[in-house]
Amino acid sequence: MVFPKVAIMGKKPFIIHDPYFHEAKRLGYRARSVFKLLEIQEKFGIIRPTDRVLDLASAPGSFLQAITKIVRPDIPVVGIDIQKIEPFGHGNVKLLQADVNDFETIHAFIETLGITRFDVITSDIAPATTGHTGVDQYRSVELNLAIVHIADEFLKKNGTLILKVFVGEDVNDLIGPIKERYAKLKRFKPKACRDRSFEEYFICLGKK
Ligand SMILES: C[S@@+](CC[C@H](N)C(=O)[O-])C[C@H]1O[C@@H](n2cnc3c(N)ncnc32)[C@H](O)[C@@H]1O
Repeated sequence: MVFPKVAIMGKKPFIIHDPYFHEAKRLGYRARSVFKLLEIQEKFGIIRPTDRVLDLASAPGSFLQAITKIVRPDIPVVGIDIQKIEPFGHGNVKLLQADVNDFETIHAFIETLGITRFDVITSDIAPATTGHTGVDQYRSVELNLAIVHIADEFLKKNGTLILKVFVGEDVNDLIGPIKERYAKLKRFKPKACRDRSFEEYFICLGKK
């Protein structure tokens, strides 16, 4: 399935051959990443209509769009990213611009919302890539460790954490802490991940 189209990024027009990009646009999603979450949801059925969901690294917001279609409109959904997330037309979606390493700010924000625990935490975090695979993978592990720390505080017992990881030689630095904290770790590479990418999703089930 190929839908070549000309896109303008900066000043240079180029052709985009990515069917997920075009399908996301057609369906009104803010990013192609949504198909990764939808595949995870189809395979593992993680998010339920009554689940309070915290989505980390949300910008531009396609995961949040998908999550709001699953959860009931009276259930809180929180999105946090270091970049600004453009607002949604849903009163239950609360947004914060913050770094996942800034635990104090995140803690204070969630407290003001009156939420103590989430049922599910999702993350699609990606470090700004340097072109050096080893460095990018290491940064991905570091960011994910910050997210594991956030989940320690805000994910309920038995809750599920979904992480995006650039897998490389440092990945055991992340797998160790996950196995200490979660009953099961399932690794999954959705079809929507680009073939050459090192990314995988870690589905961490059953927080201890
Ligand atoms: C692939 S994008 C996420 C796409 C999003 N899931 C969606 O569906 O629209 C990765 C995101 O990670 C965010 N990010 C990277 N480092 C971060 C950090 N230290 N704290 C918070 N967000 C960060 C980036 O700003 C970027 O928006």
